[in-house]
Amino acid sequence: MLNLRKGGLAVFVIAAMTGPCPSISVWAKPGTPSQSANSTQSQETASASSKDNFDFNFFKSKVEPIFLKERPGHARCYACHSDPNRVFHLERLPEGATEWTEEQSRRNFQTVTRLVAPGDPRSSLLLIHPLAPEAGGDAFHSGGRQFETQNDPDWLTLAEWVRSARTASSRKSHTGSFIYVTNSAGGTVDVVAPATNSVIQVIRGIELPHGINFSPDGSRVYVSDESESVLDVIDRERGEIIKKVSLSGRPNNLTITRDGRRVLVGIRTLPGAVDVIDTTSLTLAKTIPINRSIHNIYVTPDGKYAVAGSIESKSATVIDLQTQWRAPHGF
Ligand code: HEC
Repeated sequence: MLNLRKGGLAVFVIAAMTGPCPSISVWAKPGTPSQSANSTQSQETASASSKDNFDFNFFKSKVEPIFLKERPGHARCYACHSDPNRVFHLERLPEGATEWTEEQSRRNFQTVTRLVAPGDPRSSLLLIHPLAPEAGGDAFHSGGRQFETQNDPDWLTLAEWVRSARTASSRKSHTGSFIYVTNSAGGTVDVVAPATNSVIQVIRGIELPHGINFSPDGSRVYVSDESESVLDVIDRERGEIIKKVSLSGRPNNLTITRDGRRVLVGIRTLPGAVDVIDTTSLTLAKTIPINRSIHNIYVTPDGKYAVAGSIESKSATVIDLQTQWRAPHGF
């Protein structure tokens, strides 16, 4: 073991281990041990198992009529989506009928609940795919820009139905643990409920998410963002970014101190560093020079040390956190 003393910092270098990126991490309610692991990207897709949270009567009385109605300047959803090849497939109306039978509506309900995320219209294909791109919709829909804005009354009705599923939401019916997957090439973070293997939230606005971690009380999610070289701070409940904290270089993985007061981010850009973010002021408090490109970083279970791995130099650097905290110009 080699002891490097750098400007009063106690830094040790020991044998190396690093893992592939990006990250999957599990958040569990406080009191339940949480764990984090680096892994190759894995993306679960939404399943219908959360359909119990959706209100069938609201669907039948308010949502289905939107699929059937003539909306000025647009072909009806039904005109194209009664085609059996569509993923969003609607039952064929009985001869001469203007609405579906109860049994058919149940089948439509089964299909449509697969295209929505409980409580989260912005993560629901049904709402995003036919929405104009300028209003936050997908780039292309063969059926055109069915909704020009998110204020379209029909869009709002669909959104109300999706939002109302939040109260009964999977959040409550699940065990309280969620799997966070950073989709590095996809530019999103998916939140998966393991009880149903469904995506219950999608965090957007991070082009190259890499590492992920949580505040000890679970109120915040921290994501290292390679594209902008920032730490994204996210409100966990809402799934929205509250701050982007500029880093000293391009980040890889990150960790958080046991007391939740500091987030430590491995900086890959040479000369290599560990950036320390104060979670109260949400600013970069310190850059600890490591002199090697940092990929992974962990805090030991006793909270005394941080261990930062470097792929290129095949080494791990141990930082004495207690010394750090006492340093006069430190924190
Ligand atoms: C002119 C035909 C047409 C109309 C009208 C239309 N769509 Fe589509 N829609 C398509 C086609 C074709 C696809 C598959 C290709 C694509 O993604 O654009 C599609 C795809 C979708 C998808 C993705 C799932 C799937 O089936 O591939 C959703 C959700 C969707 N449409 C919703 C709607 C809604 C809601 C309406 C009415 C407000 C609507 N569409 C109106 C033709 C149409």
